[in-house]
Amino acid sequence: MKVIESIIELKSELNKERALGKKIGFVPTMGFLHKGHLSLINRCRKENDIVVVSVFVNPTQFNEAKDLEDYPRDFEKDQKAVEGIADIVFFPAVKEMYPEGYATYVEVEGSITNVLCGKSRPGHFRGVTTVLMKLFNIVRPDNVYFGKKDAQQISVVEKMIHDLNMDLNLVKCEIFREEDGLAMSSRNTNLSKQERKDAVILSKALFEVKDKLEKEKMTAKEVIDYITDRISTVDYADIDYIEVVDYNTLQKVDEIKGNILIALAVRFGDTRLIDNIILEDICC
Ligand code: PAJ
Repeated sequence: MKVIESIIELKSELNKERALGKKIGFVPTMGFLHKGHLSLINRCRKENDIVVVSVFVNPTQFNEAKDLEDYPRDFEKDQKAVEGIADIVFFPAVKEMYPEGYATYVEVEGSITNVLCGKSRPGHFRGVTTVLMKLFNIVRPDNVYFGKKDAQQISVVEKMIHDLNMDLNLVKCEIFREEDGLAMSSRNTNLSKQERKDAVILSKALFEVKDKLEKEKMTAKEVIDYITDRISTVDYADIDYIEVVDYNTLQKVDEIKGNILIALAVRFGDTRLIDNIILEDICC
């Protein structure tokens, strides 16, 4: 496994592989890798000849300086975690990706980005699409792997790929959870013991709603009220949003039918956690 920090070196390495007809798979990450990331990397291994993983805490997608500063990092541990699975780890410095005078940004405008996390984290998706456009141009992968944990991120990236006529295949991977149901996240490490215990209410509430919907009809408002009540049992949990939206358009719905995304963001102390469930082909 090679660790590469320079864009020129990575491009030249991958040009050689491409010339040999190798299929390149890519998993972009911000590091502090956990089993959720590894599930993407393992899938990428199965479906490609060359596996590239990037580890880059992208400053342009953080809208709060403290959040960027607090984001956990441990590159040595990351390196060990992907040894034997990845062929190349791309670990650029901030200056390598955004040298002095950097001025170009990619932004998906409108209704997909101004809702959910885009609404509560202004500029976040502009940073995500900008860094991904750069990474996609550097790596030029055949397949890229994303987790459904960040469901809106997938929609935004798909829109960019479509609108900019990019030749790459986006593979959506299932959410990987802790044994008690909490969605794995690099941010979980910032939770106190009590917060970690209480945060399980997020997945619990989502799965309870899923079960209820299998047995009875509920309106979107009833779903939101139910999840709000369940999360409010943790008195300090600070709800950013709980929304029921159409999975394709990300716009709010009243009725639960078709393909539905139930998404939430909740703060436990300083840590903002997100989770969701996707319900497909619900009939009325
Ligand atoms: P990061 O949060 O490190 O996540 C990297 C990838 O791992 C994303 O596609 C994310 O959805 C996926 N992932 C995280 N937790 C997961 C889980 N529990 N189960 C399945 N997949 C999971 O998302 C980012 O980084 C950044 O925005 C990035 C795309 C790298 C751009 O900077």
